[in-house]
Amino acid sequence: MNLTPRERLIVALDVDSAQKARALVNDLNQLAGMFKVGSYLFTAAGPDVVREIVSSGGQVFLDLKFHDIPNTVASAAAAATRLGVRMLNVHAAGGAEMMRRTVDAVFEVAEKERIQRPWVIAVTVLTSADAVTLKEVGVLNPPEAQVTALAKLAAASGMDGVVASPREVALIRSSVKMPEFLVITPGIRPSDSPLGDQKRVMTPAEALKIGADFIVVGRPITEAPNPAEAARLIIADMEKAAQAPA
Ligand code: C5P
Repeated sequence: MNLTPRERLIVALDVDSAQKARALVNDLNQLAGMFKVGSYLFTAAGPDVVREIVSSGGQVFLDLKFHDIPNTVASAAAAATRLGVRMLNVHAAGGAEMMRRTVDAVFEVAEKERIQRPWVIAVTVLTSADAVTLKEVGVLNPPEAQVTALAKLAAASGMDGVVASPREVALIRSSVKMPEFLVITPGIRPSDSPLGDQKRVMTPAEALKIGADFIVVGRPITEAPNPAEAARLIIADMEKAAQAPA
């Protein structure tokens, strides 16, 4: 996908109020390609925070990881489409029918109501889950095999891409042979930034070089003394990857 480094930067607004989100959006509106609204901010501030970002010209990735019966997920995704989001996600573990009906509902509402069709993205295995977590819930596949199986199922069900840790990008690219299949990677840290609770991280440039389309960055920007400056440094790092020979 032909995007500028800036367009590839998704800033995670993991804050607890519309006021804090607004301050970050104002600071970063010329720098972030997209703002990620997850379950924390959405539960605290509601859909108005999404409407506000969209009406100020920002693009939103609604990261609510829907996982429910097909009818409910499809309806929730249609409602997210009406909010004007650019990207939304569901758990691939919800199954092929859930994903297919979601993609269909999003297409239908976008076409009928003449609104932009958001990309529908699948979550495979959460990066917080390991083999023990999977076994607890009855999944006997090791995490890599499960990521591969769910990424393939997502692609076959019409999803636009997956969220994956940077160390899974190569695995996904080799199991889903569709260059336009989007890979979105959190777990990104500039080389001088604290890890927080992220364990396996890559720098912005490294993630792009191995084939990620978008990177998600939260605390290294939102908790920086000067978020705009932190975002500029990250974009400069991403530009290095864009200039490096393939
Ligand atoms: O602050 P930090 O850069 O670690 O934020 C990463 C964002 O990406 C958070 O919103 C987190 O919930 C999200 N995320 C993640 N790992 C995943 C999926 C989502 O860190 N596997």
